Amino acid sequence: AIALSPFTDSITYLEDGDWAVLHRDRVEIFDEAGNPVMRAMQKSVGTAFLVDKGNHRHFMEKEIHEQPEVISHTLAHYLDFSAGAAREGSVPLDFWHADRIAMAACGTAFYAGLVGKYWFERIARLPVDIDIASEFRSRDMPLSRKSLAMFVSQSGETADTLASLRHCREAGLTVASIVNVRQSTIARESDVALPTLAGPEIGVASTKAFTCQLAALASLAVAAGKARGTISTDEEKRLVRELAEAPRLASQALRLGGQIEGLARELAQVRHVLYLGRGTSYPLALEGALKLKEISYIHAEGYAAGELKHGPIALIDETMPVIVIAPHDRFFEKTVSNMQEVAARGGRIILITDTKGAKGASVRTMETIVLPDASELVAPILYALPVQLLAYHTAVFMGTDVDQPRNLAKSVTVE
Ligand code: M6R
Repeated sequence: AIALSPFTDSITYLEDGDWAVLHRDRVEIFDEAGNPVMRAMQKSVGTAFLVDKGNHRHFMEKEIHEQPEVISHTLAHYLDFSAGAAREGSVPLDFWHADRIAMAACGTAFYAGLVGKYWFERIARLPVDIDIASEFRSRDMPLSRKSLAMFVSQSGETADTLASLRHCREAGLTVASIVNVRQSTIARESDVALPTLAGPEIGVASTKAFTCQLAALASLAVAAGKARGTISTDEEKRLVRELAEAPRLASQALRLGGQIEGLARELAQVRHVLYLGRGTSYPLALEGALKLKEISYIHAEGYAAGELKHGPIALIDETMPVIVIAPHDRFFEKTVSNMQEVAARGGRIILITDTKGAKGASVRTMETIVLPDASELVAPILYALPVQLLAYHTAVFMGTDVDQPRNLAKSVTVE
């Protein structure tokens, strides 16, 4: 629909095996067996307008800046801010009877799912098994019909995620998907399609889809906690109020663009970068490394900060920038001791934290990026922004094709 938007807003989706004959004035559609079939024509609303770059140099830059708005749309779909509650009926899933969630996704969507795992387990006491979709489908794991299967995908067309979904369907699980493209195959083949309202994402590097996936997962974790009785009405209210703050805090975080651009000028000179984080900041470290490598072609690795001593510390010398994602949370002190280990070996620390974290870090940093204070639930959504901006500006300095980096496709529809 996006590719065709300059020409038409009328779209007919074919089913698997369908084929069509295009005449100048009409289309004939046939199914796999050659029988003529009717497939409904749908209107794609406002797509042509939405795929404009506006005043931005790249789609990625535009999409980064759209985040406060689209996060707010996504949250409002699942949460009733005035009532301070998860919206009744927005998540038609039986969390009460579920014994666990089996989750799969690829790339950035997988990292969103990984953050979701922390939330579902902590807020709803619901265990989550999450895997990269290509491994999920080949692992032949035992699946229980009492489990919920959940897939996360921006495009809704990723081949491995779709294959994992079909595997779970065959095993008789209820299938839910968090998707950005509502008419996609993954959405259509799910029992319950849970939307993210990011709008069309054109840049190959996923940005606004990621934070909207986080917004949806956080809302689902609250809904699951409520359904399973693991949070009280007061706690639900508190969590919903915290999430309501996310768009405003995201706008504030975007104001750090100038500082991050200055830092990116230096990062564009290096060959390797290490990202560290603990708790929900660990998936963000993975996401930061992915974002940097895919658009700037700089080699980057993301690690759980606690793993530093188990190998990657050997890489640290005075040429190695180490980006530490560390809001002042329950894990902060432990991450500080990791930073001291890095500093002792001459590593150059770039700390992304909040005011309290900046005061308490007790270690010399090359740069400290100070974000507004945020609750533990909102922090991953907020900390995604500087990580994206850093990758974006570095890639611009490197002169790469930011929106269409080499060797990558927006949607990976082959294995
Ligand atoms: O469309 P999907 O969310 O299923 O795509 C999954 C990955 O291919 C995607 O997130 C990829 O890793 C991005 N290029 C990351 O920026």
